Amino acid sequence: MRLDAACAMATGKGRKECRDAVRKGLVTVDGKTVKKADMPVTAENTLCFAGEVLDLREHLYFMLHKPTDTVCTTEDLPESVLKLFPEKYRKRLFCVGRLDKDTTGLLLLTDDGAFDHRLMSPKHHAEKEYAVTLALPLSEDDIPRMESGMTLENGETTLPCRVVKNGENTCTITLSEGKYHQVKRMFAAVSNRVVGLHRTSVGGLALDPALAPGQFRELTEAEISFLL
Ligand code: URA
Repeated sequence: MRLDAACAMATGKGRKECRDAVRKGLVTVDGKTVKKADMPVTAENTLCFAGEVLDLREHLYFMLHKPTDTVCTTEDLPESVLKLFPEKYRKRLFCVGRLDKDTTGLLLLTDDGAFDHRLMSPKHHAEKEYAVTLALPLSEDDIPRMESGMTLENGETTLPCRVVKNGENTCTITLSEGKYHQVKRMFAAVSNRVVGLHRTSVGGLALDPALAPGQFRELTEAEISFLL
């Protein structure tokens, strides 16, 4: 990869800004100032941009404990989940699937399209587990209706799922698909209303309990391989 392209990838800055920085002598390769923007570099080189060592890994993978009142978007909005990440990652990352603004819990972010596809493609049926709080008690009769697949308000049908009642108004639902507002629409179809929704796992990977709302960490190699 060219030096300016590597700087752009790792800093999230534009290619031109990076080219100018190289020409101004702000970039070092293995400790030496380099002024040729087209110099080839690899992940074996150590690049410093204005004193900061750059991360030249091809792909990044994070888990975030999404707090409420944040939005899954790459648009530059104050409420975007990407605002919780350092600037150098913001232009690289996107959300693996979406959670509603008021939904909390496990959100994966990456810059790897194949990883996103593996987890989100309907063909792969990656399971997503949610802890649900309802406005009304969950009726025992509604559980088999939901579990066997149901028809939503617009005629769409859902795949079979698992519902486990945990308390009068709380349950865990495990889906193997991700239709728009699916959990809320499924409970609306049995005349109930979701008042709290928290995603606890995706593809068998649980939210790290050490992460408080708004905190994130990188996935380990083992977690990435497990999900793939
Ligand atoms: N289902 C919903 O209704 N909302 C979410 O955020 C996720 C699943």
